[in-house]
Amino acid sequence: MTYDVDRIRARIPALADGTAYFDGPGGTQTPDLVAEAIAAALTSGLSNRARNTQAERNADDITVGARLAGADLVNGDPNGIVFGRSMTELTFQVARTLAQQWGPGDEVVVTRLDHDGNIRPWVTYAERSGATVRWAEFDPSTGTLTVDDVMSSVNENTRVVAVTGASNLIGTRPDVAAIGVELASSDALFYVDGVHLTAHAPIDMQAIGADFYICSPYKFLGPHIGMLAASPALLETMHPDKLRPSTMQVPERFELGTLPYELLAGVTAAIDVLADLVPGDEGSMSRRDRLVRSMMVLEEYEDALRDRMRTGLEAIDGVHLHGHAPLRTPTELFSVDGATAADVYLGLAARGVNAPAGSFYAIEAAEWLGLGVQGAVRAGLAPYTNTDDVDRLVAGVAEIASA
Ligand SMILES: Cc1ncc(COP(=O)(O)O)c(C=O)c1O
Repeated sequence: MTYDVDRIRARIPALADGTAYFDGPGGTQTPDLVAEAIAAALTSGLSNRARNTQAERNADDITVGARLAGADLVNGDPNGIVFGRSMTELTFQVARTLAQQWGPGDEVVVTRLDHDGNIRPWVTYAERSGATVRWAEFDPSTGTLTVDDVMSSVNENTRVVAVTGASNLIGTRPDVAAIGVELASSDALFYVDGVHLTAHAPIDMQAIGADFYICSPYKFLGPHIGMLAASPALLETMHPDKLRPSTMQVPERFELGTLPYELLAGVTAAIDVLADLVPGDEGSMSRRDRLVRSMMVLEEYEDALRDRMRTGLEAIDGVHLHGHAPLRTPTELFSVDGATAADVYLGLAARGVNAPAGSFYAIEAAEWLGLGVQGAVRAGLAPYTNTDDVDRLVAGVAEIASA
């Protein structure tokens, strides 16, 4: 099956300005269907969730619909889909809640490869509760984090193992499913940060063996919000801080304050757009199956385009790529001899190519790679990236490198 990039490009108004957007790992551009769904939620009657008035039913239907869509995306249970302001905020909340049960002698495992959103919440609450933090290190020369790198830090005292599904800095995809198999016989909870991965591959949190799978719809064509998936039975065992009148029901127990219904409508629309990246069979295939099909085709398309980008960048004198893991997302981090990362970023921006510089909150990984906080330049592909974008990026970097 071939991927029709022009079809999705036609649905993204921002692309009309001619910019080549390589900053998708920081947040993708938005399809009109998503923006329209958000506007429609806000311009229809919209009250707090209940079933008495149409406006209440609108809020309720939107919420239930977004949980169903989120569950389809990650192969989760709709009653275990929690929405929050961001991955970071939700992870702090989960860590704070789990840490109620931790004390000296307990351990948590984090990795040097992760975005700080899947490190600092665990470190903060481990330290506060007296629990020990163990670090799984990746190989800086290859960018690879192996199953052994993680499992060698796990023992019978481990309470949580927090691992990224993919590095937002260098694209490395650790074998989270194999880690999940290893952890299945332990009491440790497996917390998988799928923020970067979810935009690039079909996701099956059951196959991964994740107790928690977290992602952020604004990385996959949706609005700025976070989404956590877990089994309702696990969520029932947890007692987050809450207001006295707010419900103890799961998953609402974890959703503090009034939900942003308009953003939830946008989440559903974004997931529908992903399912429709490869169109057809709406009547005969479930949304889940269409999502898997679309994301498999997208993954193949993005892999081929990444090869084109990588080959082009590698051919430029003075360009150094930092990610080399065999299994990676289409995200390249690179430096250019004689130019700071910020110079390259600004030079590309002047050419209408958006590829930012930094460590992108994967600060541990950037330091481990020897890049420091200033990091390097990141070029990430998104469902709307085409060969013309890639060729403009490569040409721009070549000009900057030879200046
Ligand atoms: C891999 C990864 N994890 C976590 C986050 C944090 O997500 P949020 O902005 O939803 O808190 C990001 C954001 O860039 C990310 O790329």
